Amino acid sequence: MNRKQNLIRKAVIPVAGYGTRFLPASKAQPKEMFLVVDKPTIQYVVEEAVASGITDILMIISKGKRAIEEHFDFNPILEAELAHAGRVMELDEIRKISGMATIHYVWQQELNGLGDAISYAKYHVGDEAFAVLLGDTIVESSLPVTQQLMQIYQDYNESVIAFEQVTTDKLSRYGIMQGRPLNKHLYLLEDLIEKPEPAEAPSNLAIAGRYVLTPDIFQTLEAVVPGKNNEIQLTDALRLQLKQKPVYGLHFEGQRYDIGNKLEFLKTNVIFGLRHAELGQDFRHFLEQLLESSDHSKS
Ligand code: UTP
Repeated sequence: MNRKQNLIRKAVIPVAGYGTRFLPASKAQPKEMFLVVDKPTIQYVVEEAVASGITDILMIISKGKRAIEEHFDFNPILEAELAHAGRVMELDEIRKISGMATIHYVWQQELNGLGDAISYAKYHVGDEAFAVLLGDTIVESSLPVTQQLMQIYQDYNESVIAFEQVTTDKLSRYGIMQGRPLNKHLYLLEDLIEKPEPAEAPSNLAIAGRYVLTPDIFQTLEAVVPGKNNEIQLTDALRLQLKQKPVYGLHFEGQRYDIGNKLEFLKTNVIFGLRHAELGQDFRHFLEQLLESSDHSKS
């Protein structure tokens, strides 16, 4: 197999969705710009693509998502101000954001679901396999999860989906894997069950917002029948794809944070806040005091 042909060079990051689970905060602000401590969620996502070796990124955007473009664009006036004030660290940080990748944008005309969003990448991606990273999902792992998927793609040359183990109460929120284990972490997919009742779930492995997809997915997406709310689901296209050819599932090493869900968002901020190099210690102290005082007020 020619390994060079199996390189993934492009990433697609859909960020066009309404984010209705996070209203009212998402009414006029992209949820992908919501902060996890001091950085917008989407920056963590782009950093993961870049750490995986991908610097050609296509974002699928829509009305009201301009703040994302501005965040990754150069800001010469701010840069000049920081340079003038000798604030070298901040200047470096700002420049790094706009220089780390080449980001292209395409508008999703109508918000008809994740599958529909991905179909807008067809002309940018062409006939290469590509990575997909959901713009509202941060994944932490020692080796970036996109890179873990790319390594599997290099060996198998087929689509690969990242899965995480979830607790029973979360099974009905995600697409769940039915698959045959090939080794400890890798599965050959047999089916994907969208949001099953816990008793009907074939496993506890849930689609985690990271994919490597072969380009025939665009044709497959055209064959998908719109479901609830007229939405074209990427999971439905993957179900069709896995009936025609092998599709792999990687139970990846790492932790997923779904920022589009209010409670997960709060938890993520606490976890990242406690670990933050500058703020972590003070934040821990604050939380300890808060818990202590609430224990006292109960007793
Ligand atoms: P979600 O499944 O969280 O959907 O999208 P959503 O519409 O944004 O949010 P809710 O369910 O109404 O709260 C996962 C990712 O796919 C993008 C979103 O922006 C998000 O980053 N997306 C979703 C699109 O780009 N287009 C769509 O039509 C739907």
